[in-house]
Amino acid sequence: MSSCTPTIKRGSRAASPEFARLAAQRRLCREEVAKLLSASQAAEIEAVRAEAERVLLARCGNEVYLRGLVEVSNACARDCHYCGIRKSLTAIPRYTLTADEIVACAQLCAEAGYGSLVLQSGERSDKAFIDLVCTAVRRIRRETRTAVQPEGLGVTLCIGQQSREIYKRLFDAGAHRYLLRIETSNPKLFAAIHPPEQSFQSRVECLGLLREIGYQVGTGVMVGLPGQSIQDLADDILFFRDHDVDMIGMGPYIPHPDTPLGREPCADVAERVRLALVMVAAARLVLRDVNIASTTALQALDPVGREKGLRFGANVIMPQVTPADVRRHYQLYPGKPCLEESAGECQTCLAMRIESAGRKVGYNHWGDSAHARRRLDRRMP
Ligand code: 5AD
Repeated sequence: MSSCTPTIKRGSRAASPEFARLAAQRRLCREEVAKLLSASQAAEIEAVRAEAERVLLARCGNEVYLRGLVEVSNACARDCHYCGIRKSLTAIPRYTLTADEIVACAQLCAEAGYGSLVLQSGERSDKAFIDLVCTAVRRIRRETRTAVQPEGLGVTLCIGQQSREIYKRLFDAGAHRYLLRIETSNPKLFAAIHPPEQSFQSRVECLGLLREIGYQVGTGVMVGLPGQSIQDLADDILFFRDHDVDMIGMGPYIPHPDTPLGREPCADVAERVRLALVMVAAARLVLRDVNIASTTALQALDPVGREKGLRFGANVIMPQVTPADVRRHYQLYPGKPCLEESAGECQTCLAMRIESAGRKVGYNHWGDSAHARRRLDRRMP
């Protein structure tokens, strides 16, 4: 076992009957979701966790899907108040991988049996960058075809707000999933953590465009932001449900000391981890059959955070495959784990972590969410 692989404590724990009853309810209203999120005693948290795990296993099965994470570029045209690669941070060296480097990362994913990858970057819409991503996507789909995956790796994009035309070009190049976090569903809070030129409304519109074009759509929020209430978080869950998303990626907010938001007080680490975990569970209980990622930010705050995420209802993990020499320049927040490990070490370590949470790795397939499959199958002639 890799030295970076602490084990997770397991065992039977008492569950609160009140929270167990609430978690098992089929349709939850805003107040009931907020009540779930208030679970704070060990027995309350265990009741919510156990029901989320039960729903996950019943609706999605035991497999954890892997998406190799390629951080394509840390250049960014935006200035989000919380982010460690915001454009006003002029001291960090900016990099952009070449198409060959991106395809080499994809080859590593294919060899490791990861069925798909995520291309993530700062937000840019310049022609050179979009051309690069289109070329990389096309080559990945073509050059990672194998006997076990004749369609090549699945490709998810996470490159921010773009025009309809750009989304369509990227889709036609072969990307089929897109992650665009809403960050918070509260428009006032959104406005407080972004510069005025970034509007909540335009981000919501992007989610609509992505769906219309035919992507499987993912969104998510940061949990534990300064000024965020339990009601806001309950609304976030209902936002995911009402927008019928296929995938969710959310994690604890982590203050970055060089950013404006990073200087504002927020809840302590234990509270942000608790909230992020019960948010995963609540998302599972309300949305049932979507894919939910156990994010790196959880592991940044808790050495076994990602395993805990799996036990609270998550079913996706994103192993790091960005070339090690640039990885340290892609720090959205401090304390990012796996900065030094090679892609191979990450692979072994993750398999251990997944098994320690009592689950099985889903190798060599795209791992679409059951939710997306049902929707796409309905459209078949
Ligand atoms: N803490 C936690 N998550 C962050 N992100 C950006 N900055 C931070 C931070 N300080 C998340 C945002 C973004 C995603 C790529 O990373 O939710 O959408």
